[in-house]
Amino acid sequence: MKIAMIGAGYVGLVSGACFSDFGHDVVCVDLDQSKIDALRGGVMPIFEPGLDALVKTNVDAGRLSFSTQLATAVLGADAVFIAVGTPSRRGDGHADLSYVYQATRDIAAAAIKPMVVITKSTVPVGTGDEVERILRETAPALDWAVVSNPEFLREGAAIGDFKRPDRIVIGTEDEHARGVMRDIYRPLFLNQAPILFTARRTAELIKYAANAFLATKITFINEMADLCEVVGANVQDVARGIGLDNRIGSKFLHAGPGYGGSCFPKDTLALLKTAEDFDSPVRIVEAVVKANDSRKRAMGRKIITAMGGDARGKTVGLLGLTFKPNTDDMRDAPSLAIVQALIDGGAKVRAFDPEGMDVARDMMPGVEFVSSAYGVAQDADAVAIVTEWDAFRALDLERLGVLMRTRCLVDLRNIYQREDAVRAGFDYTSIGRG
Ligand SMILES: NC(=O)c1ccc[n+]([C@@H]2O[C@H](COP(=O)([O-])OP(=O)(O)OC[C@H]3O[C@@H](n4cnc5c(N)ncnc54)[C@H](O)[C@@H]3O)[C@@H](O)[C@H]2O)c1
Repeated sequence: MKIAMIGAGYVGLVSGACFSDFGHDVVCVDLDQSKIDALRGGVMPIFEPGLDALVKTNVDAGRLSFSTQLATAVLGADAVFIAVGTPSRRGDGHADLSYVYQATRDIAAAAIKPMVVITKSTVPVGTGDEVERILRETAPALDWAVVSNPEFLREGAAIGDFKRPDRIVIGTEDEHARGVMRDIYRPLFLNQAPILFTARRTAELIKYAANAFLATKITFINEMADLCEVVGANVQDVARGIGLDNRIGSKFLHAGPGYGGSCFPKDTLALLKTAEDFDSPVRIVEAVVKANDSRKRAMGRKIITAMGGDARGKTVGLLGLTFKPNTDDMRDAPSLAIVQALIDGGAKVRAFDPEGMDVARDMMPGVEFVSSAYGVAQDADAVAIVTEWDAFRALDLERLGVLMRTRCLVDLRNIYQREDAVRAGFDYTSIGRG
């Protein structure tokens, strides 16, 4: 199968590389010349464990290539995936579909034979209808089939998730398109990954419902953590106690500074807008969005409180900036709100992140970036763990403390035990461990 993948970001690049690894011929297309140049030179534009080796193997085997020429890639393809960004639209929070529709127009202008067009981007209900309308309007002579195939991979574990998915959702009413999708995913089919065929609108909604549910789970345990702090309970035990119930499950029950990243914040917001448009409110998700927004900034205040309530003239060291470990993605990371709250409070902020600093530099003017975890601690009045990178899980607390002006450790990911921190002389603050 010859596949054109439009958009070579986190999703397009990983999906394209994995499809080529299944044996398909894949061209990944992106407008960003520097991204394509880097990929052609074997340099990954994003940090994702295992991606460089997977790309190299398939480029060497002649199955994977990179281009800025959408038209050429589409001409040779049997199936075209749209994996461009759908960020929040400035001002109103609706999903910005301009990249999806531009890619659609470009595909329609380039195609000369019937084609299956698959939306992998996360798009609101009804977007597939509009994609189909644009295709038919621009190239009425061709037989188009439009499929919704939302992607569920997690950054940091993207290749494993893509190759061993919990499920593959394919939304189309078109029999031929179902056959094409079966062929594309055949290796996973043979591995017995559950493939769920649905109507197109249903598939579009499944993606938003899944993200909203997971965001709700995180926000639920975060609020339980706050309650634990005031009643003197331990949120990690609460999470274990409820998570062992199969109906609840233990994943996404880790209390922390609030969810961030490229998906949950924008997708929960877009779902609210869809619900508003259809006059069918989703009040639980409304509450989740509000609670999460205020939580991120509250984490900055939590650090200030741990320092005695006044940040003026003090130095705070942050360990981790990305919204989770094993990615360089800084989109909507809690660290952004935390840094702002600290700077507003008069603190100097110093930070280290193993992969996120290149991107963070532009987003956090006024922050001093250093090259190691211990560099962050130098003369600091507090150190806060913001992202639970493995590199921060076994720090030499003695060494950290010696470097600091005041031994104040704020563990926003609950990766240390209070006894260990106290033994090293720290005043220790965590999340929801009363
Ligand atoms: N990142 C994730 O973890 C994740 C997971 C599941 C689903 N998604 C969804 O997948 C979609 C893509 O997300 P992402 O994180 O990969 O985005 P991204 O911003 O990393 O990548 C999008 C890429 O598309 C390119 N692009 C935009 N318009 C183009 C066009 N007309 N032609 C060619 N290239 C074009 C951009 O230059 C960019 O490189 C979004 O809808 C997102 O919600 C993301």
